[in-house]
Amino acid sequence: MDFYLYLLTLLSLLSQSTALWCYQSQYSCDDTCRDPSHWAAQFPSCGGLRQSPINIVTSKVHVNSALPPFDFFGHTDTINITVENKGHSAHFALPLSVRLTGGALPGHYRAAQFHFHWGGKGRPGSEHTIDGERFPIELHIVHIKEPYSSLAEAEHDMAGIALLAFLFEETTDDHPHLDTVIAALGKVQNNGSSTVIKNFRLSDIIPSAKDLHSYYRYVGSMTTPGCEQAVAWTLFQKTLSISSRQLDAISQQCRFWTGQPMTDIFRPTQPLDGRVVYLSGAGASQTTAIHLWFGVFLVVLWTVALIQ
Ligand SMILES: *[C@@H]1O[C@H](CO)[C@@H](O)[C@H](O)[C@H]1NC(C)=O
Ligand SMILES: *[C@@H]1O[C@H](CO)[C@@H](O)[C@H](O)[C@H]1NC(C)=O
Ligand SMILES: [Zn+2]
Repeated sequence: MDFYLYLLTLLSLLSQSTALWCYQSQYSCDDTCRDPSHWAAQFPSCGGLRQSPINIVTSKVHVNSALPPFDFFGHTDTINITVENKGHSAHFALPLSVRLTGGALPGHYRAAQFHFHWGGKGRPGSEHTIDGERFPIELHIVHIKEPYSSLAEAEHDMAGIALLAFLFEETTDDHPHLDTVIAALGKVQNNGSSTVIKNFRLSDIIPSAKDLHSYYRYVGSMTTPGCEQAVAWTLFQKTLSISSRQLDAISQQCRFWTGQPMTDIFRPTQPLDGRVVYLSGAGASQTTAIHLWFGVFLVVLWTVALIQ
């Protein structure tokens, strides 16, 4: 009896000091993992003032004409990519040849990996929300500033990481190239398992730079512990499409490191804490167009009123 008590105490002590982080969906009362509201206890940056994701209030964004388009390199190259279940999500590793510059970022960045955030059983699972709306899934492409070669090196630079984010909208038609990604997820169901996708092109899943002029920009953090505050975030206004069949498939294959189904893998939105969200100039011309049309509308109303 005493021995069991001792063992239990020892186990609970051990689990407290080495508690692993988890998403809310994984957490239950008899669990010892740290859910998002307790990440900061072990990872202090998670309680910082520049955290991600955020809710973007479109009426409060600052239009900024000094946010030019990006230049992408390697997006149309045919590559072999390794997909690995990392226990909290699945990472698709990208080669050094995939790079970007432009977008008002200070330098050249090389891609490290991409991954998705999703919900489950019809629940949306994007990390960023727009005017409070959560989208079905969100794609993140992680880039590290040159010459840094790891997150650890880049984390001391406020723009050490460039994260590109795409929101998906549910459509009736399938996304033509997402089934390759879904099939790969089916092969990495458990923590630590991996597979290779052959002959993949990043341009198969995301549009070319010429269609990506409109984007939101703000300074923030990684959305998983340690929540490093070193990220220049770019959230494109253009959404990608995913059918309901693909949506069901993408969120139903992997398992967390705890063995539960890997669903609802997103961090709750964080306070803005005085930060400003900018909208690039291409979006500005849209806003100008709306103002212009509204002006025309007013003149018409006025004329109609005068005639009567
Ligand atoms: C991808 O893998 C195939 C076969 O494993 C190999 O022949 C090909 O050269 C690889 N492609 C690249 C770009 O590494
Ligand atoms: C998950 O897999 C990684 C290796 O890929 C391993 O280091 C880690 O201990 C695993 N976690 C659990 C809880 O099994
Ligand atoms: Zn992410």
